[in-house]
Amino acid sequence: MSEPLVLGIETSCDETGVGIVRGHTLLVDEVASSVEEHARFGGVVPEVASRAHLEAMVPTIDRACERAGIALHDVDAVAVTAGPGLAGALLVGVASAKALALGLGKPLYGVNHLAAHVAVDQLQHGPLPEPCIAMLVSGGHSSLLRVTDITTGVDPMGATIDDAAGEAFDKVARLLGLPFPGGPYIDKESSSGSSVAIDFPRGLTSRRDLERHRFDFSFSGLKTAVARWVEARERSGEPVPVADVAASFQEAVCDVLVRKALDAASSEGIEDILIGGGVAANTRLRAMAVERATDLGIRVRVPRPGLCTDNGAMVAALGAEMVARGRTPSALDLPADSSQPITTVLV
Ligand code: KG4
Ligand code: ZN
Repeated sequence: MSEPLVLGIETSCDETGVGIVRGHTLLVDEVASSVEEHARFGGVVPEVASRAHLEAMVPTIDRACERAGIALHDVDAVAVTAGPGLAGALLVGVASAKALALGLGKPLYGVNHLAAHVAVDQLQHGPLPEPCIAMLVSGGHSSLLRVTDITTGVDPMGATIDDAAGEAFDKVARLLGLPFPGGPYIDKESSSGSSVAIDFPRGLTSRRDLERHRFDFSFSGLKTAVARWVEARERSGEPVPVADVAASFQEAVCDVLVRKALDAASSEGIEDILIGGGVAANTRLRAMAVERATDLGIRVRVPRPGLCTDNGAMVAALGAEMVARGRTPSALDLPADSSQPITTVLV
């Protein structure tokens, strides 16, 4: 068989993503986002997201096929995010994928959302370096993973013990009066601010913390520190220097992320780091990671920003890898698992 044509469906949060790949080649990546419907609530409202997925699913599939120039029956396999994510939102994607697979008589692969954030990079940079250290930083997760085989072997090395990195960006943005989701706005503000204006804390980096939490993250102390700093300014009647606060906060987050990712690679003797998830779109994180890694002889791969945030192509990419490596497809009664562990790459 030539390289498999795989359609991937992603509905774990507020993006209805439908991507189509042929092997490592991206044909189309269609995303319908309900982010504007959540903006006034300052966070994703699960019921609103589920309803939006339901409305967007069929038109998004149709658009993806049309733009890829394929008919649905050309597809060799269907892949879908089975978890982790919002239960109701996942259900819409999983039910749609089951219906497609059953109707077309094609195999179905229910895959892990986090592993898909890693697999997507091969659409841009070719076959994944294995083993590699993957750092996943999104609105719901911050983890360091050791990847030996993206279809079977993902071992967690560390994770956040409180807020996810993206959550910290979103909460600090809100504090600064910036729109939701805050990451891109903090990124933009930071470009005109000073990253050394305020010395914000670096969570879990003290010698004592490193003993127990060497590869874990904590961002809630940082968020509180920013809140206290802004409050003090407001109390004294002075204006809040939004760009400086944003840049100094962003520097603190990126510093910890990059330090720990490099430490994980060095400790495992691994020379490749892959960064994925929405926060991997951050300009400073990308630049800092490459700069510091190069000094240590470590290679860093980060997909382009559009492939970092949630999308269907990442699910299709992981599905194509499942087909290529001969993994057994999922059963048609596969469940959506809102807390699917990263150790379960394929359900
Ligand atoms: O991976 P993703 O699209 O969805 C989840 O699975 O959570 O990540 C969304 C998160 C949000 O918290 C958003 O603020 C953050 O990624 N984000 C960014 C940037 N672009 C998106 N954070 C920092 N800098 C960015 N440029
Ligand atoms: Zn994600």
